[in-house]
Amino acid sequence: MSQITREQILTILQSIPHPKKGDDIVTLGMVQGLVVKGGEVGFALNIDPTEVEIMEQVRKACEAKLRQVSGIDKVTAVLTAERSSTKEMPTKDSGTLKDTKKISGVKHVIAVASGKGGVGKSTTAVNLALALQAIGLKAGIFDVDIYGPSIPTLLGVTEKPVQSEDKKIIPIIKYGLVSMSLGYLMPQDTATIWRGPMVMSAVKQMTNDTKWDVDGELDVLVLDLPPGTGDVQLTLAQTIDVDGAIVVSTPQDIALIDARKGLDMFQKTNTEVFGIIENMSYFLCPSCGDRSDIFGHGGAREVAEKLGIDFLGEIPLHMDIRNTSDNGTPLVTHDPNSPHSEIYINIAKKIAEKL
Ligand SMILES: Nc1ncnc2c1ncn2[C@@H]1O[C@H](COP(=O)(O)OP(=O)(O)OP(=O)(O)O)[C@@H](O)[C@H]1O
Ligand SMILES: [Mg+2]
Repeated sequence: MSQITREQILTILQSIPHPKKGDDIVTLGMVQGLVVKGGEVGFALNIDPTEVEIMEQVRKACEAKLRQVSGIDKVTAVLTAERSSTKEMPTKDSGTLKDTKKISGVKHVIAVASGKGGVGKSTTAVNLALALQAIGLKAGIFDVDIYGPSIPTLLGVTEKPVQSEDKKIIPIIKYGLVSMSLGYLMPQDTATIWRGPMVMSAVKQMTNDTKWDVDGELDVLVLDLPPGTGDVQLTLAQTIDVDGAIVVSTPQDIALIDARKGLDMFQKTNTEVFGIIENMSYFLCPSCGDRSDIFGHGGAREVAEKLGIDFLGEIPLHMDIRNTSDNGTPLVTHDPNSPHSEIYINIAKKIAEKL
């Protein structure tokens, strides 16, 4: 069967009118970021924030209509809105600018960042969140990696969040950990081609509309930031009130001083840097237990010392860490007493002290 095209989808959506304005949602320019990938369709409806309720009905109508079309297996429509700043900011007399970005239901936020991709940031973030939970804190993880959300895979989550009666998004709870990810809302790979501003409003919407305290107030929410130190990362760090940042680095990329850029970024935004973690730091032979520093480990510690930043710990390159992540059962929950879990727990203790 021939594949469904963007034009066909837009034609179908043209049959859906805005309930108040009369014109259809395509003509009104509300359909944004349309992505068609095989039988998966995803897009955002850019709405007026005062019309969330009626537009939720329209969103559902869009999904229902497209689902009936043969050749479409999966449809995800999300609402995005540029909120007016007055609405977003609680009017607290004593409120400093910092207070205004506080997430409701969350006491502390830490951001896990890296200078470049593929250093194990998400793996570290999820294991750290579980380790913070293991030491008695109520923890959550918020995947704001718009380029490739990986928390759904890391936690093995396939269900979608539902809405509460008060129109909040109920986060997914897995292994006791509260979690939210763009990946829960969009078909895989969709977000990558969203335009920057849309991504930002989706992130803001998720930040503000998620019922983070569904299972009790969170002591700490761990942000899994997208890799790199560009505008998106900067905006994210500015949008959400971050207590402290943790930079993950491998020994190789420390040599390339990528991690320093990550540090610079936070220093520019006056975000405290809690410290550096060296990941895939050394190789522990699974059969003989011998340790080899294949990448010349220790660079992160040196950089940290030079910059006067704490060195939080080193995590070896180990198949158990990789396999458990890929299977959706992160090591700290899969085998909490393993030596590697202990490393994450020790780092979590250092972070908890800083909060
Ligand atoms: N300490 C480790 N030992 C073995 N494998 C690891 C370790 N840390 C991460 N990995 C593996 O490395 C790969 C990349 O990890 P991960 O997705 O966490 O990186 P990332 O920095 O979040 O990447 P991205 O930049 O794409 O977001 C994954 O397959 C993961 O299982
Ligand atoms: Mg990642």
